[in-house]
Amino acid sequence: KSTENQAKKPVLKVGTEPSFAPFEFQDETSKDYTGFDMDLIRAIGKELGSEVQIQSMGFDALIPALASGNIDIIISGMTINPERAQKVSFTKPYYQSGLTIIVRADNTAIKGFEDLPGKRLAAQIGTTGAEEGKKITDTTVREFNSPAEAFMELKAGGVDAVINDRPVNDYYLKTSGTKDVKQVGNPLTAEEYGIATAKNNTELAAKIDKALEALKKNGEYDKIYEKWFGK
Ligand code: ARG
Repeated sequence: KSTENQAKKPVLKVGTEPSFAPFEFQDETSKDYTGFDMDLIRAIGKELGSEVQIQSMGFDALIPALASGNIDIIISGMTINPERAQKVSFTKPYYQSGLTIIVRADNTAIKGFEDLPGKRLAAQIGTTGAEEGKKITDTTVREFNSPAEAFMELKAGGVDAVINDRPVNDYYLKTSGTKDVKQVGNPLTAEEYGIATAKNNTELAAKIDKALEALKKNGEYDKIYEKWFGK
């Protein structure tokens, strides 16, 4: 065999913050990173002929890691927005999301975003949920490393509401039950998730877009979607 055939696959270094089920989280038994985003990026890696290496870090550390070249891409349920688009290149959107509120089950005062002024809020650090919370008058927004920690503080009574992504809140209620907490209100914003590459690496973003398109055409995207969200 020629050495060319034996050449190692190029490595795609992927950054994510894996406390965001069902998009990225650690499987309890295997400890592997699993979820919709993880399946999607592995399928994209296959399309590109690259080996996918997942690196875990804080959500607020992802964009700096991309800028410094420690990772090649981010997939982390990351919402495409203008502030981020100044620092990174986003692929086309791959998932439609939005923000909702979680309150304690016995809370009758908060029925939606209009009831949040003056309340004590929590969100994951560096997220759109935290940013939206800060725009509401007279609130304090405590930022936690993971949504799970924000939910714990909510249950303990330290905050009145958690602002977080709707599909993650849905999954949390489905897996942890609705005895202590409930979801209220209509989604605040329509948000779309994108995969990010370094600002100057539009070439890689274009390649990923092509791979995404192929996965949508060949049914692989739908398979992964149905695995995590049903039909
Ligand atoms: N979609 C929200 C944002 O972009 C939250 C994403 C949090 N992702 C995560 N893997 N923890 O700010």
